[in-house]
Amino acid sequence: MNDLDFWLGAWADGRVGSRVNRPDNILDTYWSSLKPETGKRVLVPLCGRSRDLAWLASNGFVPIGVEISPIACRSFFAELGVEPVRTSCGPFVKWQGSGVTILQGDFFDLDGAYDAAVDRGALVAIPPAHRMAYTNHLHARLAPGAPILLVTIEFDPTRDAGPPYPLFPDEVRRLFPGSAELARTPYRRRRWEHVGGATGVVWGARTAAPAGES
Ligand SMILES: C[S@@+](CC[C@H](N)C(=O)[O-])C[C@H]1O[C@@H](n2cnc3c(N)ncnc32)[C@H](O)[C@@H]1O
Repeated sequence: MNDLDFWLGAWADGRVGSRVNRPDNILDTYWSSLKPETGKRVLVPLCGRSRDLAWLASNGFVPIGVEISPIACRSFFAELGVEPVRTSCGPFVKWQGSGVTILQGDFFDLDGAYDAAVDRGALVAIPPAHRMAYTNHLHARLAPGAPILLVTIEFDPTRDAGPPYPLFPDEVRRLFPGSAELARTPYRRRRWEHVGGATGVVWGARTAAPAGES
């Protein structure tokens, strides 16, 4: 659906950026405002080697990441200092350790049901032509009313071909009806100078509740 070869190549060449060495308090600050229930399964699509997985596990959630690159999976557990157990799980390789599961494979092959989601840099890694398919698949995997923390990026789309692909509020609201903007932060790093600066936006959203509930 999206360009998996691009991402596999990017990981192999060390071209995937990472927040690993930078402090980041988005989950600390915003996750609880969505009232997620501890002990529940939190889907982290296109997780890379995100520390969000470890944060969720250490805060009482059951994180399940989905990531195409084995390099990202290996690197995540190496960073934690954990030797993961690897098993085959349908079209995925399941990596598990320290309360974290990463399903290595294509997100679009995922089935099963999850209780919440953290989408940080995932929707915006999907080419615009596939955004709707990605979002439909995400909603389909989540229980009705499931909380979703979404982190997007905005910048002048004429100045970089992506990924990431900038996403603006009108489209976020179309894809996630009822979503609310929680924060916007200018990104000042040199990484974004070539597009004239970028803005990170944190959104709170929910999958549609069953009819009769709000
Ligand atoms: C921009 S990175 C986001 C990383 C992570 N969410 C974070 O916050 O650091 C996008 C990731 O999605 C992975 N990816 C892209 N398409 C995918 C797909 N269809 N299924 C699974 N992983 C995918 C890439 O390998 C890459 O690690």
